[in-house]
Amino acid sequence: MDRFIGIDLGTSSVKLLLTDEEGRVEKTTSRSYPISFPQVGWSEQDPADWWRGVLSGLAEILDGIDKNSVRGICCAGQMHGLVALDENDEVIRPCILWNDGRTAPQTDWLNTEVGRSRLTEFTGNIAFAGFTAPKLLWMRENEPENFTRISRIMLPKDYINYMLTGVHSCDYSDASGMLLLDVRNRCWSREMMEICHVSEDMMPFLFESWEVTGVVRSEIAEMLGLSTDVRVCAGAGDNAAAAVGTGTVGKGACNISLGTSGTIFIPSDGFAVDPNNALHAFCHADGRWHLMGCILSAASCNNWLCDSILGTKDFAAEQEMITDDMLGRNRVFFLPYLMGERSPINDTDARACFVGMSMDSRREDMVQAVLEGVAFALRDCMEVAHSLGVRAESTMLCGGGAKSVLWRRIIANVLDMTIDIPGCEEGPGYGAAMLAMVGCGVFSTVEECCRALIGVRESISPDPDIAAVYNERYVRFRRIYPALKGFFSGNAD
Ligand code: XUL
Repeated sequence: MDRFIGIDLGTSSVKLLLTDEEGRVEKTTSRSYPISFPQVGWSEQDPADWWRGVLSGLAEILDGIDKNSVRGICCAGQMHGLVALDENDEVIRPCILWNDGRTAPQTDWLNTEVGRSRLTEFTGNIAFAGFTAPKLLWMRENEPENFTRISRIMLPKDYINYMLTGVHSCDYSDASGMLLLDVRNRCWSREMMEICHVSEDMMPFLFESWEVTGVVRSEIAEMLGLSTDVRVCAGAGDNAAAAVGTGTVGKGACNISLGTSGTIFIPSDGFAVDPNNALHAFCHADGRWHLMGCILSAASCNNWLCDSILGTKDFAAEQEMITDDMLGRNRVFFLPYLMGERSPINDTDARACFVGMSMDSRREDMVQAVLEGVAFALRDCMEVAHSLGVRAESTMLCGGGAKSVLWRRIIANVLDMTIDIPGCEEGPGYGAAMLAMVGCGVFSTVEECCRALIGVRESISPDPDIAAVYNERYVRFRRIYPALKGFFSGNAD
């Protein structure tokens, strides 16, 4: 029996899983690592912490199994982060992450001086602060001595792939989020490389997500007890991998990921751009394309309130206080912009806040407001998709937040969509293992693999009465940000 390993290099932890060739998950494990916020709105991680987590997680899931049965490894990862390597392939500085807002001036410069229409022509997208290209401009302006040392540019999961294989690779789905890829033609954009003062030899080699980029380096294979012909596939950005892991391929499908970030992911057969650029136009991991909206703080809002503010890790107990009759009736609102916001408002200065508190507001109203605020922000993205004529009847839901039965119901009613929970909840990690299966020939296409392995375990339908009251609440929610936008601007310091 052949085995495959899927790795999900997330923001709070790396999750690893081992499957057999029929897609049954045999083992899972995770390793968490720190994230630093050196200034308000900045976020960084040390790639060495990721690699340590991956190695020790691999050792754990390989323990006690026939290691010769492992055929392929594939990695999904947090997108957009800038990992810069010097000429000896050493990491130059900590990785600047996808939810870091320091590049607001460079993002503005790209969108106004280069211009939104040229950026869209070159890449299919405009600049957002979390994307990789503005980070290169930031580094050139603020850390010129580091910038001149750059020999290779990588994304987070590509650093892990490099450590595993010695190959500098990137896949199209993850490369899309750099603002350096010509997404329509699936190649690096000469114009964008010039604008960012980088050359093509600094860029990783491009692959489709399931393609094999190399084999595990002999010293790593020896350390882990693996054979030296274990194949490593290019992998995918975590959202594209989660879409694979939930079977979100082909027209009419949709996936929502409720992790540190929250995303809506809508596959398309051909390359398509949102004319207002509120949704990203990226490559999918199945060889096609997709549209995506990304809110920067989703499950992280709930973690922040419960853990940092209320001082509890028992999230379920907090949610037990929210009874059915309370759905749609909360007078407290929460704007979930703890790290500024990406889709659809693209505002690094925006901040989170509770609105509508009164003397009788309770702890559970605030917890509920946080879950609802995230659902409303996801609806903001879904409304953009609707305005483009893209409408899915149902959506898959994955990510840590999807474990909450209450949150699933809130999202189903706020979006007025049926929510489907996949058989395997490990979205990106499972998608990565599936890509390894395709790369190793178990399936001939990603679509075939999805058809064979993905099923729906449970569906949550909206309740027409609750959806109607949530619709009214959403109309009120939509008025909060425009009212506060002026107050937020310039408050980042
Ligand atoms: C997507 C994005 C986030 C990260 C989180 O554009 O920035 O979803 O990939 O890991």
